[in-house]
Amino acid sequence: MSVAECTIATCRESFPSLRRTLSGRPLAFFDGPGGTQVPQPVIAAVSDYYTSCNGGSNGKFITSQESDGLIHETRTALAAFLGARSWREISLGANLTSMAFSLSRAMARELMDGDEIVITQLDHEANRGPWLALTEQGVVVKEVNMLPGGTLDPEDMARKINPRTRLVAIGHSSSALGTVNDLALARKLSGQVGAWLVVDAAHAAPHFSLDVEAMDADFLLCSAGKFYGPQAGVLYCRPGLLNQLRPSRLRTQEAKAPFRFETGAQNHAALAGVLAGLRWLAGLSEGATLRARLRSTMAAVAERERQLANQALEQLRGIAGVSLWGPGPSANRAPTVALTVAGHPAGEVARRLGERGVLVGDGDFHSARAVELLGLEAQGGLVRAGISIYTTAEEVHRLCEGVAAIARG
Ligand SMILES: Cc1ncc(COP(=O)(O)O)c(C=O)c1O
Repeated sequence: MSVAECTIATCRESFPSLRRTLSGRPLAFFDGPGGTQVPQPVIAAVSDYYTSCNGGSNGKFITSQESDGLIHETRTALAAFLGARSWREISLGANLTSMAFSLSRAMARELMDGDEIVITQLDHEANRGPWLALTEQGVVVKEVNMLPGGTLDPEDMARKINPRTRLVAIGHSSSALGTVNDLALARKLSGQVGAWLVVDAAHAAPHFSLDVEAMDADFLLCSAGKFYGPQAGVLYCRPGLLNQLRPSRLRTQEAKAPFRFETGAQNHAALAGVLAGLRWLAGLSEGATLRARLRSTMAAVAERERQLANQALEQLRGIAGVSLWGPGPSANRAPTVALTVAGHPAGEVARRLGERGVLVGDGDFHSARAVELLGLEAQGGLVRAGISIYTTAEEVHRLCEGVAAIARG
């Protein structure tokens, strides 16, 4: 049974938090881009870990050995989720941002005065700030321009990536506008000059079937709290590459990849939850391997979420006073809808929708550069409605009705 066949009602039954109501109406969670709800097996796995298996790493006793086994299984499942060849390519950490900073500090040791890094105007600060920090040591950071429609300018990308470029940092898709970037172009241009490609896949991981090998990424970052797990940072690194880098690490910690990049203890209970979340996703499909099941689920999720996003975009487009930001309905966008309502600051729209049990975000969502360029800072940025695996057409309708009521006055 795939997620397309399994009724959405069955899928939703897995999420206890969806039963919560406000003034008699169920909450409609459109806050997935900031962090999704988690299915019951994730909650059970975190609880079971503390109930029966709580232990540090590298011990000779049962709870430690089980904990190490569980982390190994989590890495293996994450490798399957991302299309990596092996668990050795998967490093773990607290969250994406802290891992991006660790990566930039490691890269700093490989770069010289005058070397260049290319970032984008559209990216989340997590994939900009760590690279901008390297300007302090003489690295030149250039930004690929964003066009008014919320897509990156391909000609500008071609101009900015040059033989001095050592690294290109780009998002797979924008968690503010839903734009899917042209990674093939970024790979082609960075490859031509021998630059590393760092992909922020935080917003892509919950919505698409990812394949790091097809992307040919050197590094890919994501964040498990966005794909139905507890919070944890994940870094994929091309085989062999991590062992050549010099990340900040204790000499007492394992020096080989993937451990080479990790500092201190991991959050074992959270990682137990990440594993359970991936198994839950895989369990929505059939297939001979975990990779095949995850691919099948994520392909079905992408299609279903695309239809719901298009429904939202079409309905919202017809409401007077509502402006939509980012790409219009298309096969190639993430199911995240960004809007503003004339005369109503984003925070007010989010608060009033929240009172109706429709939970949306407001602000810049750390894509501050993009929001600034769109000229939306003064009105509190954007209202963001993210579609997730548990979103229904009825919830999308409620969202649009709520926005229409606010726009009417
Ligand atoms: C596109 C994108 N990149 C990076 C991040 C940062 O992830 P984390 O909170 O795990 O540091 C987010 C978080 O929302 C995001 O949406």
